[in-house]
Amino acid sequence: MKKIGNLNVEDIRNDFPILKQKINGKDLVYFDNAATTQKPNVVIDTISQYYNSYNANIHRGIHTLAEKATAEYELTRNSVKNLLNAPTLEQIIFTRGVTESINLVARSYGGANLKPNDEVIISTLEHHSNIVPWQLICAEKGAILKIIPINDAGEIIFEEYEKLLNHRTKIVSIVHVSNALGTINPVAEIIQKAHQFGAVVMVDGAQSVSHLDVDVQALDVDFFAFSGHKLYAPTGIGILYGKKHLLEAMPPYQGGGEMIQEVTFEKTTYNELPYKFEAGTPNIADTIALRKGIEYVTAIGKQNIALYEDQLLQYCTSKLSDFQDITLVGTAKHKISVCSFSLAGVHPQDIGMILDSEGIAIRTGHHCTQPLMQRLGLVGTARASFSFYNTLDEIDKMCVAMKKVIKMTK
Ligand code: ALA
Repeated sequence: MKKIGNLNVEDIRNDFPILKQKINGKDLVYFDNAATTQKPNVVIDTISQYYNSYNANIHRGIHTLAEKATAEYELTRNSVKNLLNAPTLEQIIFTRGVTESINLVARSYGGANLKPNDEVIISTLEHHSNIVPWQLICAEKGAILKIIPINDAGEIIFEEYEKLLNHRTKIVSIVHVSNALGTINPVAEIIQKAHQFGAVVMVDGAQSVSHLDVDVQALDVDFFAFSGHKLYAPTGIGILYGKKHLLEAMPPYQGGGEMIQEVTFEKTTYNELPYKFEAGTPNIADTIALRKGIEYVTAIGKQNIALYEDQLLQYCTSKLSDFQDITLVGTAKHKISVCSFSLAGVHPQDIGMILDSEGIAIRTGHHCTQPLMQRLGLVGTARASFSFYNTLDEIDKMCVAMKKVIKMTK
């Protein structure tokens, strides 16, 4: 259990300085990886190297620092292209995160293409960031939002999805992996079905890229988004991948510097892809550091990560199942390493606070998925979400702490 392929988990933990500290006098157990992952030294050092030695604005200057910053920044685009197996660099657009990527597509593609009574499909599993942007654009355009229901295990009901599709369906926007439950959606099949009706598909990959291989060409996905901070890289940098003909036809999302070709007071023409969608000075340091996060994960290998994290998931699932009063929430057949649970008669926040007093960080509450919680009849859950730097020992510590929670609350 100390090994991920050829790598040692203890060695990996040494790359993450934050994991070495004590919280409330106890060794930190960080089980909130679905909210954000911790950063290895190589990511942290890259940020300070940028500010220490080549801080400059990009795409604008011809001086040495500007050229170095621009080159480093654009190398990340290449790294993301390879990570997603995107056909070209111009299809990789830098945003602030998945939320901005979805808002960009909703506003730009949705704004240009949705008409009254057109339909947009999302699912019960969605994060608020894949609900609200569609509500906003549907309200503006008179379009209708349809919701794919789920079963009690937290899996979408595929036959119900098929029933929702029709010639009025213009967009399907679906989460790849549920942040609240860990369910892996059958996105390839979802995309294939949507295409039969001429709809485009956006996939929210916030929780998938750090656990699963994603090949946008094999998936034939129209738009795909992820955030750097869930991939061991900084906050404030995200990705939107799109099919070229769609991106080319879409109007700009924001106006400003860099996204233009020529500006006069009478008329403005826009820059080519991807810059048409990158107005203003971007988040340069964090974009450069994203490459280091991608390289770090790629060096470990997604297969190794999936194998190891699945062991953590199975172990935690089995240990929590031994508690009489604990109910596991989200028991999909295909899951990543997220264990959501509730404890009879105890508010999730109380679980979170008592675990924190033991140095254990989990997330509690609705996980920005209020409609999902309503469907499950819960105010929220306690959620432990694992990374490749977590261990079985840490899960044992959480189970011991859960006994304390039960003692203190019953
Ligand atoms: N969406 C993130 C989570 O699930 C913040 O915690």
